[in-house]
Amino acid sequence: MKPSSSTKLVGIFGDPVSHSLSPAMQNAAFEYMGIDAVYLAFHVPARPASALKTAVSSIKALGFMGVNITVPHKEKVIEFLDHVDNEAGDIGAVNTIVNKAGKLTGYNADARGYIESLGQEAGFSPQGKNAVVIGAGGASRAIAFAVLKAGAKRLVIANRTLRRAQTLSRDLKKKFPKPEITAVPLDKNFLRPVAGDSQLIVNASSLGMAGKEELDFPLYALPEGAVVSDIVYKPFDTGLIKKALVRGLVVHRGLGMLVHQGALAFELWTGEKAPLDIMRMAALKALKLHA
Ligand code: ATR
Repeated sequence: MKPSSSTKLVGIFGDPVSHSLSPAMQNAAFEYMGIDAVYLAFHVPARPASALKTAVSSIKALGFMGVNITVPHKEKVIEFLDHVDNEAGDIGAVNTIVNKAGKLTGYNADARGYIESLGQEAGFSPQGKNAVVIGAGGASRAIAFAVLKAGAKRLVIANRTLRRAQTLSRDLKKKFPKPEITAVPLDKNFLRPVAGDSQLIVNASSLGMAGKEELDFPLYALPEGAVVSDIVYKPFDTGLIKKALVRGLVVHRGLGMLVHQGALAFELWTGEKAPLDIMRMAALKALKLHA
C-alpha cells in the first residue's frame, strides 16, 4: 500500500537503531493485512536527555498509532507516559507504546514474546524448572521476570558485574518470594555446578553478537534435553547455538523472541491478529540483507 495523506505512523525510537529488523517485519505485516500504516526507525540519541522527552511528545503531536522503544530508552521512557501496564511496571521497562486518543500507555512485549516463542519454537515451559539467565541488563530483567512468572522453581543470574546481578536478584525476590533466586559471577567455576540440574539456559547478554566475543558456557554439563536459548539474533546462529546443536541440545534462537514481541506490539496497535509467518520471513530476509 502506497503511503498517502491518511497513512498512520508507527516506529521505533533507539540509539543505535539503523540495524533494526522491526521496520521490515512490521511493514510486511501492515502490507499483508492491508493496514494503511508505515513503520520507520527514528534515531533518538541517549544525550541530551531532553531528546527522548521531545520524541515521546511527538507521538501525540503527530498522531502516531504507537512506537517500539529500544536500547537505551526502555527504562527512562516510563516517566513520560500517561499509563504503564502492570507487567511493564513490575519489570521496570517498556518496549511498546500505544497511543489511544492522545493517551500513551506503555507495555513490555519482550517478556510475553519470549515465553511464547520459547513454547512454540522449543516446546518448553519454565513451569517447575531450573533456569540460568546470563546477563543483568534490561533484556535480562524482562526475561528473568518472564521465566519466574511462568513458574520456574530456581533461577540463577550470572553476570560479569556481580553487583548488577545481585540488584536484579533482589528486585525479583520482592515480586517472586517462593522460587530460589541467586546471583553469581559469569565464571565457569560457578556455572558448572548449577548447569548439571538446569533445564534452561538463556543468553540475555550481548555476548555472541556479530563482532563481540562468544559466551563460553559449560554446555557439556547440561542434562540431556536441556534448552539453550540465545536472545542474540545477529548472527542467526550464534557460537553458543552452534555448539548446543553439536551437543544435541534443544535450541531456541533470538529471532523467535524478536518476531513474537513484534507480533504482540502489532496486535496492541491494530487490534488485529498478527501474521507471524509473514513477519518471521520478512525479519529473516532483512537479517540476510544486513549480514
Ligand atoms: P540490554 O538492555 O540489551 O540488556 P545492557 O543493559 O547494556 O543491554 O546489558 C548488557 C549485558 O551484557 C550486561 O549483562 C553486560 O554485563 P555487565 O553488566 O557486566 O556490563 C553483558 N555484557 C556485555 N558485554 C559483555 C562482555 N564482553 N562480557 C561479559 N558480559 C558482557
